[in-house]
Amino acid sequence: MLDVDTSLIDKAVNILDSGGLVAFPTETVYGLGADAANEAAVRRIFAAKERPMDHPLIVHLPSREAVSEWAAEITPEAERLMDAFWPGPLTLILPKNPNVSNLITAGQEKIGLRMPSHPVAQAILEAFGKGIAAPSANKFTHISPTTAEAVKEELGNEVDLILDGGICEVGVESTILDVSSDSYTVLRPGMITKEELEVIIGRPVSLVTQAGHSTVRAPGHHAVHYAPNTPTQVLSRDALYAYLDSLMEVELPIAVVVYEPGFDRKREGVHVVNMPPRPDGYAHELYHALRSLDHLQVKQIIIEDVPNESAWQAIRDRIAKASGRE
Ligand code: TXA
Ligand code: MG
Repeated sequence: MLDVDTSLIDKAVNILDSGGLVAFPTETVYGLGADAANEAAVRRIFAAKERPMDHPLIVHLPSREAVSEWAAEITPEAERLMDAFWPGPLTLILPKNPNVSNLITAGQEKIGLRMPSHPVAQAILEAFGKGIAAPSANKFTHISPTTAEAVKEELGNEVDLILDGGICEVGVESTILDVSSDSYTVLRPGMITKEELEVIIGRPVSLVTQAGHSTVRAPGHHAVHYAPNTPTQVLSRDALYAYLDSLMEVELPIAVVVYEPGFDRKREGVHVVNMPPRPDGYAHELYHALRSLDHLQVKQIIIEDVPNESAWQAIRDRIAKASGRE
């Protein structure tokens, strides 16, 4: 269990109270937090990230009781989902309370809410006692940070305080489920799968995977999002081997990210990253691995395609986006 430094939590709360920005760890990725009820502070988030104003922010809550301050209507099914998955990596999109600022929701009548499980996130939320608006703590279109060092690299000059909680356990952003209308839709896959959600509510949930299928601004629905700076592509193991065999000296160095054992095309100039073979372990390391590879200054990153299975859905989504493919 992580020790939470109470003097740093007090400092974070003072900064939030005075309209500042605090980056903090959650179980998914690091967030860039501001007082969700302070419009000037929320504007600072958009400026720091260089994020367009039409991308709404998730409000992080200290408790279930706080939900009704932000959401106008909470169905029994939404309650069941909160019972099952909160605190944890699930964001629910609910009809917004009329008094919630349009800045947070980008003018939509819906609000994204989540209760994180990370002890540092919980400590700040509890001490602050109010909602904290927090997108991932990276520049717009970059990979989300999963360590405090990565936050520093992204936003070191823009943020008033960075709290270090080590590497994030989940490693990819929360599952976003829109429960604001009768048909429930996953707007962003995460490590809580569509099937796990369906078990709780007892009916099918649809999945938005492509741009244009959703009427709301969902994350990553840009040609390049969650992307490393290095050109990145996704190939099956066979295609990867064929490609490596065809590469000429001048096209090296490159990096390959594989997850199945038995990779046998080791050669000079090909940097191999072996990812954990199970989805949870893979997700935990993915962004950290991509960020480290960006530092290597290779000519390209090739990621081995992962299984087309539910448990891998969030990873498939993120590696497709890393390669600019959707
Ligand atoms: O795991 C996470 O969700 C992390 C941690 C920090 O909590 N946060 C995160 O926030 O990924 P962000 O802003 O980087 O991505 C959230 C996405 C936004 O891009 C936005 O499109 C979508 O959630 N979103 C937020 N509120 C929404 C709303 N009211 N309607 C539709 N989409 C919404
Ligand atoms: Mg983000």
